[in-house]
Amino acid sequence: MSPTGASSVESIAENQRELPFYQPVDNECELFEHAYRQRLPLLLKGPTGCGKTRFVSHMAAKLGKSLFTVSCHDDLTAADLTGRYLLQGGETRWVDGPLTRAVREGGICYLDEVVEARKDVTVVLHPLTDDRRLLPLERTGELLEAPDDFMLVISYNPGYQHILKSLKPSTRQRFVAKTFGFPPPTVEREVVARESGLAPERCSALVNLAARLRDMKGQDLEEGVSTRLLVYCATLIAAGMPILQAAQATLVEPLSDDEDVQEGLLEAIKATFGE
Ligand SMILES: Nc1ncnc2c1ncn2[C@@H]1O[C@H](COP(=O)(O)OP(=O)(O)O)[C@@H](O)[C@H]1O
Ligand SMILES: [Mg+2]
Repeated sequence: MSPTGASSVESIAENQRELPFYQPVDNECELFEHAYRQRLPLLLKGPTGCGKTRFVSHMAAKLGKSLFTVSCHDDLTAADLTGRYLLQGGETRWVDGPLTRAVREGGICYLDEVVEARKDVTVVLHPLTDDRRLLPLERTGELLEAPDDFMLVISYNPGYQHILKSLKPSTRQRFVAKTFGFPPPTVEREVVARESGLAPERCSALVNLAARLRDMKGQDLEEGVSTRLLVYCATLIAAGMPILQAAQATLVEPLSDDEDVQEGLLEAIKATFGE
């Protein structure tokens, strides 16, 4: 803990009035709603930038629930989620972490990239994900029972997994799960147009290009171009940037540091949009 007692967790507590735009791809909205109503925890798997975070904030707003989002990182501990005693004005006071707040107040707690977190995090998740739905707070001696409107959602990117960092089956098998992928072309076109303001016809070309670039994933590319990057590209084009420059900055540079790989991507882009 830092001297001021500040926690290393950065969480966002949202209470949105407006429904964030989310274009469904499959049955994910129904699945989420069923899981919420049946008090089951949900696991979302999928590559970066494919809409997982947007989906969760959309569903939280749709259900009218507060959303506590935590981006997990390799220093994140159980105490960052549950809470800790902090020194405030000469007194020590217990301050709830985002998970505890969601359990106390009701709401959705979303742990993004959960496999990054320290191993002790799974220890607090286990009792919350069985049918007792309990959160024991050792430090305060409390045993909190999650209300009906508490939901735990976690996500990770299986593409990044290595042996040291993956969810153990004993954790995984406590969740209802759904795999996310990049949206099919018609949906992705709609998303990119809506998010960037670029005309849908012009977005079609970008979406087709993305499919071609994603086919290049594997040998040299760790991950295919994300919907997020397509939105960036379309946003720059809509703002007046020449297409090739926009594509270079959003669909080539962020994807690889390797010059040969970059060259290959650029070739595919030029083949689509001309020199
Ligand atoms: N189905 C979708 N509906 C609406 N926006 C989407 C969708 N899929 C992707 N996006 C766009 O892609 C961006 C990145 O999505 P995000 O949810 O942050 O990805 P992830 O959490 O999977 O990394 C969003 O900000 C949004 O603009
Ligand atoms: Mg995300």
